[in-house]
Amino acid sequence: MSEKSVTVVDHPLVQHKLSLMRSKERSTAGFRTLMSEVALLLGYEVTRDLPLEMTTIETPLAKMEAPQLVGKKLVIVPILRAGVGLVDSLLQLVPSARVGHIGLYRDPKTLQPVEYYLKLPDNMEDRDVLVVDPMLATGHSAAEAVRRIQDFKPRSVKFLCLLAAPEGIEHFHSVHPDVPLWTAAIDEKLNEKGYIIPGLGDAGDRLYGTK
Ligand code: URA
Repeated sequence: MSEKSVTVVDHPLVQHKLSLMRSKERSTAGFRTLMSEVALLLGYEVTRDLPLEMTTIETPLAKMEAPQLVGKKLVIVPILRAGVGLVDSLLQLVPSARVGHIGLYRDPKTLQPVEYYLKLPDNMEDRDVLVVDPMLATGHSAAEAVRRIQDFKPRSVKFLCLLAAPEGIEHFHSVHPDVPLWTAAIDEKLNEKGYIIPGLGDAGDRLYGTK
């Protein structure tokens, strides 16, 4: 994988559904459904290079060599809490994937992300990891989540989001130049509170109906 890779999934269905999500008129239920639909489409793209091996199977009519996914199970790691909104769709695509979780909060004094929860499957060194969070805003949580996961020496790491700010991409790739990013869109900028503009608001709040 080349360095500092950013893939914008510009499929019309992704773009249309993302626009519906952005609207402040969208209900919580509608937002949640759309997030699942977009995650499915993004997941299709991000899994494009999963390794295959030829195996012998028998159809009702003949024997054949058929491609099947190979290797240890993929690990999906949502960053709590909004990342959880992407998981079910990704599991629909790869039902045998494992799911880890990482939770980070921002220290009010240092403004740095601090881990409060981490649970990953065994044998991480044999696994490909997909870290997911709908919003890549400042990029600090994403970069820290990936740094912690890399302590477990996974075979590969990718990061998937719905929306990215240029500042977030810049920071993320300054720390992890070799971790490829997938997103549905790159927005204009961050505001002074670290929200993506125009963005879609607080993804966790919109997903779970909190304020
Ligand atoms: N997190 C969100 O949920 N939204 C933003 O715009 C930035 C960070």
